[in-house]
Amino acid sequence: MARKIVVTSGKGGVGKTTVAACLSAQLAKKGQRVVLCDADFGLNNVDVVTGVENLITYDIVDVIEGRCRAKQALVRHPDFYNLHILTSIHSAPERYISPQSLKLVLDALSPQFDYIFIDCPAGVDEGFHRAVASADEALVVTTPHVSALRDADKAITLLKSYELNSVSVVINKVRGELLAVGESLTPSEIEELLKTPVIGVLPEEYSIFGGEFSKTHPAFKLLAGNLLLGKSKLYNVTRAYTGLLGSLRRAIKRRL
Ligand SMILES: Nc1ncnc2c1ncn2[C@@H]1O[C@H](COP(=O)(O)OP(=O)(O)OP(=O)(O)O)[C@@H](O)[C@H]1O
Ligand SMILES: [Mg+2]
Repeated sequence: MARKIVVTSGKGGVGKTTVAACLSAQLAKKGQRVVLCDADFGLNNVDVVTGVENLITYDIVDVIEGRCRAKQALVRHPDFYNLHILTSIHSAPERYISPQSLKLVLDALSPQFDYIFIDCPAGVDEGFHRAVASADEALVVTTPHVSALRDADKAITLLKSYELNSVSVVINKVRGELLAVGESLTPSEIEELLKTPVIGVLPEEYSIFGGEFSKTHPAFKLLAGNLLLGKSKLYNVTRAYTGLLGSLRRAIKRRL
């Protein structure tokens, strides 16, 4: 049976889709059989982010309405043999998807895969609850900023009403040059604030993605290892900003 992990946040734009997509790719690279489900039925973009938008034949509505089987709707990623994308609504954008129907689709796929990632929409309303209802674990993505942390806290509180096996935090868009001089909250401060374990720290870098989805950043290797093996090794985002060369880099970054 697959581990079904919802990637959520509360706040929009913090990196849910990026984390869900890059983590899926990283685990697929490690030989895990992965489904990445786009459960954002309003502003869906997993297909674009993973570059499979021209390879879609069926979407999740086709499965729910019986036009194809769940497995037929999966788009195998051209660069990652083990990564399969279940795309959001394309065929009938006005359709309402119930939490039960999403769960039925994912449960049907579960025996044939190791991981199912569910990319959640922003907010904590209907779309949030629909995505969470299908999951048995949650990754809450936040940035180190107060507004994102407050929304993450709200999401974590709501997640408590679901009987999830685990809830963990991924801190995204961390600026190493600020963390190095104490101008950004540290992972342990965030862990304490949210009272939830942090299992990933990802730097704010264009190269986290770089427009080339197939090249996943080393920070995702650590995150994938933590998820796979239950470790808690965090990527050192300040390494490049310590020492003489580091202070030079810090000065340059701050002028940008
Ligand atoms: N670590 C990072 N460094 C730099 N840019 C990033 C990082 N993570 C995400 N981004 C960029 O931030 C933007 C928002 O990311 P993403 O779409 O993954 O967020 P989201 O939480 O899924 O948003 P939404 O709530 O709208 O679904 C994108 O342009 C993405 O490329
Ligand atoms: Mg998104």
